[in-house]
Amino acid sequence: MKDKRIIIFDTTLRDGEQCPGASMNLREKLEVARQLARLKVDVIEAGFPVISDGDFEAVQAIAREIRGPVICGLARCVARDIDATGAALKPAGKRGRIHIVLATSKIHREFKLGKAQDEIIRLAVEGVKRAKSYVKDVEFSPEDGSRTEPEFLVQVCKAVIAAGATTVNIPDTVGWAVPEQYGALIKRLHDEVPEFQNGKAVISVHCHNDLGLAVANSLAAVHAGARQVECTVNGIGERAGNAALEEVSMALKTRGDFYGGFSCGINTREILKSSRMVSRMSGLVVQRSKAIVGENAFAHGSGIHQDGILKKRETYEIMDPKDVGWGGTELPLTKHSGRAAVAWRLKHLGFKMTEADVQAIFARFKEIGDKKKFVYDDDLAALVEGQITEVPETWSLEYLHVTSGNQTVPTATVRLKKAAKKGKAESEVVQDAGIGDGPVDAALKAIDRLAKTKGHLMDYSLRAVSQGKDALGEVTVKVNFGDGELVTGKGASTDVIEASARAYLNAVNRFLCEEPQSQRPSQP
Ligand code: KIV
Ligand code: ZN
Repeated sequence: MKDKRIIIFDTTLRDGEQCPGASMNLREKLEVARQLARLKVDVIEAGFPVISDGDFEAVQAIAREIRGPVICGLARCVARDIDATGAALKPAGKRGRIHIVLATSKIHREFKLGKAQDEIIRLAVEGVKRAKSYVKDVEFSPEDGSRTEPEFLVQVCKAVIAAGATTVNIPDTVGWAVPEQYGALIKRLHDEVPEFQNGKAVISVHCHNDLGLAVANSLAAVHAGARQVECTVNGIGERAGNAALEEVSMALKTRGDFYGGFSCGINTREILKSSRMVSRMSGLVVQRSKAIVGENAFAHGSGIHQDGILKKRETYEIMDPKDVGWGGTELPLTKHSGRAAVAWRLKHLGFKMTEADVQAIFARFKEIGDKKKFVYDDDLAALVEGQITEVPETWSLEYLHVTSGNQTVPTATVRLKKAAKKGKAESEVVQDAGIGDGPVDAALKAIDRLAKTKGHLMDYSLRAVSQGKDALGEVTVKVNFGDGELVTGKGASTDVIEASARAYLNAVNRFLCEEPQSQRPSQP
């Protein structure tokens, strides 16, 4: 095995976004794609174009704008999907990749597809040939590959490669594999398919984390001959998620001794920034003890460890936190900073903002600057997030007053402005009060009464965006408005009750304008 370069295929915007309540709008996806390009992933799987107009537009916009990585779109093995993906990827030109998925395992063949092995091979070959009429770079995934009979999998690999597939990906779709067995499967495919040895086709792996083994399985596969690893930032994805990009890339870097010098092109200093951005945009909070990017990943509680670190960092630290983006010093902005300083900082942070965006963010920056001494980069990023959620603001918060205490019934008075309808000059202002179990509950009940919605709060998280007692609080909520789907809302303020009301209102506005996911075609 001469080639020691591992291709990092990022599917945050496709498999990651499939996670309930993690859906992102076009601008959010574009910001993430720009960050993935700075992170230097090799392939960005930008979405599943046939699934909705929004997905099609996102793949197309990413294909048009992002330079550097290959841009990939997913298609089921049917003409309609492949044609839509080919069309969405057109602006990427030679950097476009169509990724076709078709299930191959016995259980999927019998119960899901009702098709025999030879029929699956015929369809796979037909699909790859059709995709080849759009792009040279075609990836084929035998879905549930890890549970497919190995001898059949060898036949599938040979057939799709003969039809023109340049990458064959072996998904552990249901997270069933364990490292030794998955590694042995990859080795067998590597040994029995000549094109994996002579570099004419790349063998790829795609692992889910149902048993907490996604990263371990991916690394075992690298050891066995895989040359592409599919992963997501923060490991977000269906159910328990996918292999985490930051863990795979840092394991390869840190344990290059064991992995025989395999490396990837990831710019590891962009890892933390990518993690924070994906967490914000997807509304999926990173657990404190998460490897590499969790708040505690480099925090040493014990005195013995602290003492050791002061004497020699490597005694207790296997990675330098700076290598993944921790510990950069920044000059915070203050309320005296002008619009130009804020605009420069936004650009420096990598955000692509219009004049109107900068204006709106600057207005919020001034409000916040009046309440807290320093405005840090993370505070600004939270304001950007609020700006680019791009939800038409059907309802906006005008006024909020809460009373609460241990001897008081928590009460909230809320005034909302309803945006003027097309052709109607006047917006409407409405006010009501609500009581609840606590001040947040009271505020949300009042909002529901005014907006005539009935939301069930399924998840609520509050995090301090930056340091200090006056830190900006960022609230993320996941709300079910009765149709079973989770709608994410985000809001930030120095006042956590106000941040909660803003987050809930953001979810209400999303709910009022979003296309229900249940009306979309089913995803693989
Ligand atoms: O998990 C899976 O099987 C997938 C395929 C589309 C590769 O996500
Ligand atoms: Zn998957």
